[in-house]
Amino acid sequence: MIALSHAELDKQTITKAYARWAPVYDLVFGAVFERGRQAAIEAAERVGGRILEVGVGTGISLPHYSRDCRLCGVDISEPMLRKAQERVDEFGLGNVEGLWVMDAEQLSFPDDSFDVVVAQYVVTTVPNPEATLDEFARVLKPGGEIVLVSRVGAEAGLRRALEHWFAPAARKLGWRTEFSFERYARWAKQTAGMRLVERRAMPPLGHFSLIRFAKDGGQRATSDTVAVARHAAVRAAR
Ligand SMILES: C[S@@+](CC[C@H](N)C(=O)[O-])C[C@H]1O[C@@H](n2cnc3c(N)ncnc32)[C@H](O)[C@@H]1O
Repeated sequence: MIALSHAELDKQTITKAYARWAPVYDLVFGAVFERGRQAAIEAAERVGGRILEVGVGTGISLPHYSRDCRLCGVDISEPMLRKAQERVDEFGLGNVEGLWVMDAEQLSFPDDSFDVVVAQYVVTTVPNPEATLDEFARVLKPGGEIVLVSRVGAEAGLRRALEHWFAPAARKLGWRTEFSFERYARWAKQTAGMRLVERRAMPPLGHFSLIRFAKDGGQRATSDTVAVARHAAVRAAR
């Protein structure tokens, strides 16, 4: 018998959980996460080009991107992806290049493949979030961005205590409740060429955040580089 590692067991739990969620996912999580998804899409479209959605799920975001963006979607759950394919067919989304069953921690795309990597409500569900962010950075082109919408755990107080208490049950449902922002910030600090460029609180109740990281290099004029250039020009003119 082959002994499974902790991460493999964790992935089995997640896969089982999302096979159960697939038929009702849009009904339960459609509206509640809508503002976060919209903010992530707007951030991704500011960069544009070829976009990878990791943990694309039922493809709920796909029809909302501009048709000028080329989209690729991956997810570890086949039942969730089947829903995404139905959506692509229903909306005639010719800008979707493909949907693949794939593990976020081991993306089978070459280095520097995408202008943006988007992951909405995903990073806190994977067993090794930092390894997953490393993969996102690897497949991202220089000058590109990682755009996350993620749950951020409370740093102190009653909410933190409740999150820790609820953590084992949440895991069985397919997510993690306790996950500090410090982990994202530390990952960016320790990862060569990656910078944290934004954190913005998102509903419901501000328990989620839009988090953006930029990869150094490239010639892209992102809103951040434009802002820096404008600031420098104003200073030079004084
Ligand atoms: C909370 S759902 C989010 C779905 C969608 N992004 C949304 O906005 O509603 C999390 C998704 O991440 C997927 N997922 C979890 N672990 C994953 C992994 N290791 N690799 C790829 N996808 C994963 C799940 O199957 C599920 O579809």
